[in-house]
Amino acid sequence: MSKAPVRVAVTGAAGQIGYSLLFRIASGEMLGKDQPVILQLLDLPQAQKAVKGVMMELEDCAFPLLAGMVATDDPNVAFKDADYCLLVGARPRGPGMERADLLTANGAIFTVQGKAIAENANENVKVLVVGNPCNTNAYIAGAAARKVGRTNPNNYHGMLRLDHNRALSQLAAKTGRPVSSLKKMVVWGNHSPTMYADYRFCTSNGDSVKALVNDHAWNNDVFLPTVGKRGAAIIDARGLSSAASAANAAIDHMHDWALGSDDWVTMGVPSDGSYGIPAGVVFGVPCECKNGDFKIIQGLEIDEYSREKINKTLGELEDERAAVADMLK
Ligand code: NAD
Ligand code: LMR
Repeated sequence: MSKAPVRVAVTGAAGQIGYSLLFRIASGEMLGKDQPVILQLLDLPQAQKAVKGVMMELEDCAFPLLAGMVATDDPNVAFKDADYCLLVGARPRGPGMERADLLTANGAIFTVQGKAIAENANENVKVLVVGNPCNTNAYIAGAAARKVGRTNPNNYHGMLRLDHNRALSQLAAKTGRPVSSLKKMVVWGNHSPTMYADYRFCTSNGDSVKALVNDHAWNNDVFLPTVGKRGAAIIDARGLSSAASAANAAIDHMHDWALGSDDWVTMGVPSDGSYGIPAGVVFGVPCECKNGDFKIIQGLEIDEYSREKINKTLGELEDERAAVADMLK
């Protein structure tokens, strides 16, 4: 017997990540080739015509798993009974806009959306924020949802999976080992250049990747800046921010959360206080996923170098949290 459809809400549906993401969700790459989906697409009023165009193309694919579509500019409609929400739409940084202005502009969006999710979605909804600054946007949405109750505040995630995947590719190139052999990667902290991509625990077919690399200068001077500034390098090369790789990472994050992972995966989740990260801060940490749930890997040793890196990215997130504190009262 075929499964009942699940509802997947996607915001920023007319944008460039949306254009890479929606077709893969509808084809079953996110939730499995046996899971029908209903797409609930949110975008701004002026983008509704473009959303309709994307829906026409989705229709033209005749995806067997696509059980329905809704287009709207109303968050209460988009998140109604949603099982999964991918919050991609965000306010980009405009000319003359300071970082604090960006945080405030997005704060307004994610307060409204977090509340609308908590009031309308399935109680077990899984939420992934892609729109930048994604850790703090996820924190804001989670804080707004917490006030309503109903949904699980731990289920409001920020996307660090693109950074995790970028790190794996760089390590595969350095070691000459296939990406598929690399296990136990983690990217700590904020989705920003302060993130700390940490391969100290990483193995390839049982070999320590740290021992294979054996080059602290490469780690410090090449690997970390390459992974941390990859988003900016792509904007420089393409004239647009990463889209297909960002959509791919969103698919990976939700796929593993829903269906399980056979390896550590980096997720930006509300801290449980472990590793000295204050509870509630949305921080990239290593997780394992099983039975539709995720668990933070505990007890990893944090050496002095790593502590310094983790503190730096944490400091940035604490500053962002302070900048939006008034909005969450
Ligand atoms: P885009 O400008 O092509 O599309 C954004 C879409 O969001 C537009 O259609 C816009 O109308 C819509 N939108 C804006 N405000 C909205 C709101 N309040 N509600 C609903 N929709 C809204 O941008 P894109 O390239 O698709 O990127 C989207 C976001 O993802 C950006 O914030 C970008 O920085 C971020 N991003 C994050 C990562 C990551 O790894 N976390 C990677 C790449 C990009
Ligand atoms: C990325 O990592 O590719 C994006 O977050 C970059 C950006 O600033 O949009």
